Amino acid sequence: MGFEGITYTVLTFGCQMNKHDSERVRGMLEALGAISVDSIEEADVVVYMTCCVREAADMRLFGQVASMKNIPLREGSPLHKRIVAIGGCIGQRDGEELFKRLNNVSVVFGTHNLASLPGLIESALEDGSLHAEIKDSAESFPSDPPTSREMPWAAWLPITIGCNNFCSYCIVPYVRGREKSRPLEDIVQEAERLVNDGVLEITLLGQNVNSYGRDLYGKPRFADVLEAVGSTGIKRLRFATSHPKDLTEEVMGKFATLPALMPALHLPVQSGSDRILQAMNRRYTSGHYLGLVEKLRQKCPEIALSTDIIVGFPGETEQDFLATYDLVEKVGFHQVFSFIYSKREHTPAARIVDNTPRETIQDRFDRLVKLVETQAEALNQKDCGKNVDVLIEGASKKDETRLVGKTPKHQTVHAPLPPQTDIAVLRGTIQQVRIEKAGPWYLSGTLLSA
Ligand code: 5AD
Ligand code: SF4
Repeated sequence: MGFEGITYTVLTFGCQMNKHDSERVRGMLEALGAISVDSIEEADVVVYMTCCVREAADMRLFGQVASMKNIPLREGSPLHKRIVAIGGCIGQRDGEELFKRLNNVSVVFGTHNLASLPGLIESALEDGSLHAEIKDSAESFPSDPPTSREMPWAAWLPITIGCNNFCSYCIVPYVRGREKSRPLEDIVQEAERLVNDGVLEITLLGQNVNSYGRDLYGKPRFADVLEAVGSTGIKRLRFATSHPKDLTEEVMGKFATLPALMPALHLPVQSGSDRILQAMNRRYTSGHYLGLVEKLRQKCPEIALSTDIIVGFPGETEQDFLATYDLVEKVGFHQVFSFIYSKREHTPAARIVDNTPRETIQDRFDRLVKLVETQAEALNQKDCGKNVDVLIEGASKKDETRLVGKTPKHQTVHAPLPPQTDIAVLRGTIQQVRIEKAGPWYLSGTLLSA
């Protein structure tokens, strides 16, 4: 039995790496003739790309898969039973244990086994039994399977996989393995192919792109990757994620010299307290971080910074939290992803005893979110009255008469769709928008061109 007449859907939790892996799963299944559908109800095969960075995503997966038993197979399905496949970080962490915990799951695959997924599903379709493949590590950077991009004009391009940093709270190094860099020639080849394909925006991906190349012959560095990909004719270049301890002068300099490199940087700080940063094994101080921000702004004054912050790391005191609050006030972030600390088994931080009441942590979190909101709004207000280039993504989900797009600084922009304009023509193009209003989460204005 092949994939003819089989419908599938891919559900993604977590980070951009997972979203990209999902695009590859779609590409592989489509190449084999499977038909993409949008809901579990219509799907014969459901693939989950999972995340275990925090407990919430973990629990959501188990809840969703268990309740799927109540959703009958679509009428006309050639199967007797829906095939459920679990991959990504939970697949890697729990392996075949998942079959015991969730008895409607028939395929489990690890973070290094993406390419085996079609074969595993095919075996399950044929014999209805359980199939799992979980490799401990990747021998080399995985080859490049077909990809079906959600937005045809924007592509993720992985340059490293894995992580060697072992931040004390983080499970990623245990489920994504040691860091491996992709050869520079392969990256450039893929970037050139994407540009020829009409892609306007590439986001280079890795758990820590700044340490790219340490494991490669000749040790090409991340600045070389930026230079090479930035010279392919790509219109917009971005990257994620950056560890502050490895962000070099050369990389920061590219924001001034590479026109394709967009003036936006995600630089997770996690905490503003040096004591907590040390306990997190982050290997930089708040002073070092502030120094980076100053240099980045010297080189690229308009740069928009975003960050990740963990509130309530075990042992965090009010004073530690105030140091984080102070750092956020000093930097002025366009966007902050704030997380309440979530204990992950087998990480060093899980052994630290902590009695901080939940309400205290929630109160800190709320204070931080408030500050971030005020700050982001004030920063966005500075763009009112400006004409900016917006990469149009489509119509707003809530209101079809409004279009949505992204500025170079990665702000979301809304604008009315001019009468008699077909959104399909604008989608995936860069257009000028005059910014008239700004809130904490988005800008709005009027489309000038087109
Ligand atoms: N608890 C809360 N947040 C976490 N992150 C990683 N591990 C944890 C954890 N155990 C956050 C970090 C990281 C982001 C992707 O997720 O802020 O940068
Ligand atoms: Fe996790 Fe730290 Fe690696 Fe980021 S750098 S993936 S936070 S261990």
